[in-house]
Amino acid sequence: MYVLFRPILFKLDPEDAHRLTLQVFGLKFKNPVGLAAGYDKDGVAVRGLATLGFGHLEIGTVTPRRQPGNPRPRVFRLVEDQAVINRMGFPGQGAEFATAHLQRTLKRRRSRGTSGRCNFPIIGVNLGKNKDTPLEEAANDYISLMKSFSPLADYLAINISSPNTVGLRRLQGRELLENLLSAIAEERRTNPHEHGGRTPILVKLAPDLSEEELDDALDVILRSGMDGVIATNTTLERAGLHSRHQDETGGLSGRPLRVHSETVLTQVLKRLDGRIPVVSAGGIMSPEDAKRRLDMGAALVQVYTGLVYAGPGLVQKIIRAV
Ligand code: FNR
Repeated sequence: MYVLFRPILFKLDPEDAHRLTLQVFGLKFKNPVGLAAGYDKDGVAVRGLATLGFGHLEIGTVTPRRQPGNPRPRVFRLVEDQAVINRMGFPGQGAEFATAHLQRTLKRRRSRGTSGRCNFPIIGVNLGKNKDTPLEEAANDYISLMKSFSPLADYLAINISSPNTVGLRRLQGRELLENLLSAIAEERRTNPHEHGGRTPILVKLAPDLSEEELDDALDVILRSGMDGVIATNTTLERAGLHSRHQDETGGLSGRPLRVHSETVLTQVLKRLDGRIPVVSAGGIMSPEDAKRRLDMGAALVQVYTGLVYAGPGLVQKIIRAV
């Protein structure tokens, strides 16, 4: 079949041809490489980050109310391991600040006209609960964030996998996840946002779930009608590290997470069986790493720690290689 289409595709500019084929969650991505959450927590660097060529930027994690996060130091470079340990704990200015900022940025995007919009990355917003919100009331935090960001963001990511907010990852357990995602689905059903659209909702998972826990979580995600999965967040595992910071508390990212994230990706893809797309993150340090995830079946990839070690040129290198 492709042989028949190829002459038509080849008449197009290579980037346009690629763009035609990259439709995920009903959104058009100009390339499969995104910035993972945590770099631009308040959405204040979107225009600068857009110039690096990302196909999407995931801002956040945003919490409803402003909070300081954990005391410093809270980020550690493990240079010998090409890794980072962070225990940021969702520091941020809160939803009101981030929505105001995003509104201004997106207004400029719109005023640049159609061609400008095509070149602009897709903007996702990653949502998390405040530290002092009890777990039983977590759904209220996520729903208030949905109300704020559904009209603005291209997609939303429900973060229940950061290791630095006490109890957060328990929301991945079957019963709590069912309660949370059914409340989110209900909110989306009864209050479609003002533009009448349906903002895709993704769920971001930890790499540290057992096979059974992961299957349970994916089951709930599918049954509640979520649009995709991001696998994975940082890990609590510490095997095989050499750097002096290896015993710091927090989530580990970068090269040591690579194999782990690939294993989880394989399981997630198998279980979802093509029903919803998967975004792969965790230890993507090179164009080869990114290509392998896409070949495995991920729809998109995200990088963070790779940028720390390979520099911002990594984005273009990946785009050229995949
Ligand atoms: C993160 N990550 C993250 N994830 C998230 O969902 N919300 C967040 O606020 C943060 N914050 C954050 C801060 C720092 C300093 C790092 C290094 C990471 C996790 C990130 O989005 C990604 O899932 C992991 O880092 C794995 O990818 P890499 O870094 O191995 O490419």
